[in-house]
Amino acid sequence: MAKYLVTGGAGFIGSNIVERLVGLGHDVRVVDNLSTGRLENIENFHNRIEFINADLSDYKTAAESVKGIDYIIHEAAMPSVPLSVQDPVGVNRSIVNTTVNLFKAAVDSGSVKRIVQAASASAYGNSEVLPKNEDMNPEPLSPYAVAKVTQEYYGKAFFHIYGLEVISLRYFNVFGPKQDPGSYYAGVISIFTNTMLQGNAPVIFGDGLTSRDYIYIDDVVDANLSACSCRWPGRSEVINVGCGNRLSLNELVETLNKILGKNLKPVYKDERVGDVKHSQADITRARNILGFNPRVGVEEGLVKLIDWMKK
Ligand SMILES: NC(=O)c1ccc[n+]([C@@H]2O[C@H](COP(=O)([O-])OP(=O)(O)OC[C@H]3O[C@@H](n4cnc5c(N)ncnc54)[C@H](O)[C@@H]3O)[C@@H](O)[C@H]2O)c1
Repeated sequence: MAKYLVTGGAGFIGSNIVERLVGLGHDVRVVDNLSTGRLENIENFHNRIEFINADLSDYKTAAESVKGIDYIIHEAAMPSVPLSVQDPVGVNRSIVNTTVNLFKAAVDSGSVKRIVQAASASAYGNSEVLPKNEDMNPEPLSPYAVAKVTQEYYGKAFFHIYGLEVISLRYFNVFGPKQDPGSYYAGVISIFTNTMLQGNAPVIFGDGLTSRDYIYIDDVVDANLSACSCRWPGRSEVINVGCGNRLSLNELVETLNKILGKNLKPVYKDERVGDVKHSQADITRARNILGFNPRVGVEEGLVKLIDWMKK
């Protein structure tokens, strides 16, 4: 069985990846500094993994973490646009420094076969082109987005120079269990679901026509595992991971009302400056390279999320 390192493995996406890998019988090491991650995300299987509580912005941590590892799934990051606006230096350290440390340590280790890393649809900035495809020029508009695009470029450079295989998965709006609705970084689905479960009206900034490509966590885990095992595409690819459709905020509230059997009317507030109006992934590349085929529709994913939140 292959040995995996999942960075940020105590976070929302990372812990779901770890859970799947453990279920498949793989050896898994997690490195996480618990800045936004939580131990309760991994408590059900913590005795079946190796856990390193440390910060990857320290090269020594990166070198220790990659020892004997075959595949790295790199999720660690300070995942917030607003926070990156307040603290661009911290976000650069948490995203760019950790990535360079990890890549260099992987090259030095001699054992690492491939790195699959979390990139972000924020790379597309305010472009109005729909759907977004990976050949479009990146237009990162926040320190967070710049750092995520930089990760992709490091992937390309490390393959070009050292032959390190790196695949970057540009996630769209990921949702599902273990996403913390109370956190500063929470996605709109976890906030609305939590709010409406408690019988409260969700707040929509703008007219509610803003739309996003929401992708359920299990499909994101599938994409990561396929990116580890797929035939090397010959270059360090950037690949969209979304469902290829989009849903407006009004439709999201409508769907949640339907599932919850409620009739909560959203409260509309002024549109926030800088919010992108629409987002939708072209997933042709993911289909071709990863055999990616999203299995969970938004409504089905919301039902699963609500079940989990109720527990
Ligand atoms: N959630 C989304 O919709 C989404 C969309 C696009 C991209 N992403 C990317 O996916 C990845 C995972 O995001 P998430 O939503 O699970 O966020 P998360 O905050 O739940 O997970 C990030 C994890 O990284 C850890 N971490 C942060 N800095 C670290 C460091 N220096 N050293 C060690 N660990 C560190 C945190 O403690 C946390 O456990 C991130 O790279 C994020 O940028 C997420």
